[in-house]
Amino acid sequence: MRKIAVAMAKGGVGKTTTAVNLAHGLAMRGHRVLLVDCDTQGQTAKFLGIAPPHGLYAFITGQDAHGQPVDRRDTIAPARPNLWLLGGGIGLVELKHWLGEQPRNLRQSILAQALVPRDGALDYLIFDCAPGWDVLSVNILMAATEVLCPVALQGPALEGLKTFFGYLMSAQRRNEALELKYILPTMYDRRTRQSSVIHHKLQKLFRKQICDPIRYNVRLSEAPSRGQSIFEYRRTASGASDYDRLVERITNGARS
Ligand SMILES: Nc1ncnc2c1ncn2[C@@H]1O[C@H](COP(=O)(O)OP(=O)(O)OP(=O)(O)O)[C@@H](O)[C@H]1O
Ligand SMILES: [Mg+2]
Repeated sequence: MRKIAVAMAKGGVGKTTTAVNLAHGLAMRGHRVLLVDCDTQGQTAKFLGIAPPHGLYAFITGQDAHGQPVDRRDTIAPARPNLWLLGGGIGLVELKHWLGEQPRNLRQSILAQALVPRDGALDYLIFDCAPGWDVLSVNILMAATEVLCPVALQGPALEGLKTFFGYLMSAQRRNEALELKYILPTMYDRRTRQSSVIHHKLQKLFRKQICDPIRYNVRLSEAPSRGQSIFEYRRTASGASDYDRLVERITNGARS
């Protein structure tokens, strides 16, 4: 099973868009995927048009928001054929408190220990990380083996990248299996010089990890309000072919 964290400390760079469309793209190709929403915004459920009653908080603590016991199996919501969701949302604020109260030597690897599926039950775990950096981010990077970083080719794109890679390196000291595997340029607009300049810089810095860019595509921003992935909302949109290409890159062992 592959465990991919879609992570970047900077907000609004396309993490959730990538996590959802990648997860659905993989599921459509017959891979069994669990998408884990690690953000208090809980956007992934909205993006997929579902409203699961429980999520990651209940999965980890075994309780609902009122302290009532919850069966772990009831926390994993079916979202599409081959795709399941462990939802995020405001309950994760409580989860972070809960994690903070656990013994120091255990608290960073609680998620990694909880997320051990039955052999062969899943092919991919995809984590949609929150912006910023906290005890939950550390837990995700202890549970994941691959990191996919979306970088928006707009505004001060490279700002904060160094700090984020510093966080990654400190996580790698504790999780030797963790690898910065993919840099995904997002919101690429070939008409703007800025997009090309940032893209070239990324190509030079990350020759091995760089993926083909996801173009700026308004359909990608419309799909979530319909509760659909781009493949459902507009199969012919450039966003769908770009995310298709990402799925191909990730499933293609030779190039990944
Ligand atoms: N390639 C794209 N073209 C156009 N709009 C996009 C593209 N990718 C993402 N968006 C839109 O940009 C906004 C931010 O994207 P998204 O929510 O995926 O970012 P995020 O990194 O998860 O944000 P946050 O850090 O707040 O979790 C959303 O409205 C989304 O629909
Ligand atoms: Mg997000």
